[in-house]
Amino acid sequence: MGAAAQPQLLSEAGYATTLGSEYSQLEPENVMKFSFVHPRPNTDPAPYDFTQADQLVAFAEQNSMRVRGHTLVWHKQLSGWLTSGIAAGTYRSSDLNFILQDHITTVMRHYAGRVYAWDVVNEAFNGDGTLAHTVWYDSPGIGLAGRGTAYIEQALSWAHAGDPNAKRFYNDFGAETLNAKSDAIYQMARDFKQRGVPLDGLGFQLHVNLSFDNPNTLDSFAQNVKRFSDLGMEIHFTEFDAALDGGDPQRFASQGDLYRKVTLVCVQNPNCKVFQTWGFTDKYSWIPQSTNNQQGWALPFDLNYNKKPAYFGMLNALTGQ
Ligand code: XIL
Repeated sequence: MGAAAQPQLLSEAGYATTLGSEYSQLEPENVMKFSFVHPRPNTDPAPYDFTQADQLVAFAEQNSMRVRGHTLVWHKQLSGWLTSGIAAGTYRSSDLNFILQDHITTVMRHYAGRVYAWDVVNEAFNGDGTLAHTVWYDSPGIGLAGRGTAYIEQALSWAHAGDPNAKRFYNDFGAETLNAKSDAIYQMARDFKQRGVPLDGLGFQLHVNLSFDNPNTLDSFAQNVKRFSDLGMEIHFTEFDAALDGGDPQRFASQGDLYRKVTLVCVQNPNCKVFQTWGFTDKYSWIPQSTNNQQGWALPFDLNYNKKPAYFGMLNALTGQ
């Protein structure tokens, strides 16, 4: 059972106590992303900065929690030096190839033995199943533009060299049910499996709302998880939250039921090893900020770290009560 966490909040007693006592895994919500760990160009004497991520890893170790790494190859939350250098034409594909390889290997080596699994690649596909045009794929890319998932394969191979003992994941949103996006990811995973490309698992983000609590949706979700698991992939639910339009008891009860049903899908699949929420308290959730304050209340603890029905929904699924 995991939660995304932020190091600057660990000084708040309720935050640290709840995180350290209720969860067995944490994942940095932001501080292992490119802009945080790689704030300066490779030509700088100190291109990398692990200060904030190290704080979280130390907290996890003090509290006997595992750490899941997030994320190495993503087109968001990149450093200004990189995006402005690409825009200016300073960095071409051969430079980006070097920068990404160095990034993956340096970050993974820094955390070797301390981070047991990595979202190596995050959100590479569009909803229609095509590959997103990103700085790493083809804009300008690392030199494998137009060659489909070859750049993802390259990143996974570099990740294998960075820490051969860490599990390598592909992580995405909107690929929870059977649809064009999950079909494309499935084709990639099957191809990688057949050719021995080092992909160990799939991360399903699961940023949902109460509309996900629909028999057809939940059935499609369970079938989709099963097909990846049947390929021999490990499954992690990585960023679950269930956004609400209001914080009233009735909505909290419905949310609790959805938490129970989604947790059950993991519990009932032997290859599903991680159920993780994106944060754990409604006090610090990305949902209000990302929905212009139209939605919130998405997590299992309320603003005062009291357990909501969502918490008991997860517990119920885990204990079969
Ligand atoms: C989000 C964080 O929660 C926010 O604090 C940040 O401002 C933007 O990123 N998919 C992902 C996560 O893989 O990294 C994102 O996290 C949420 C969507």
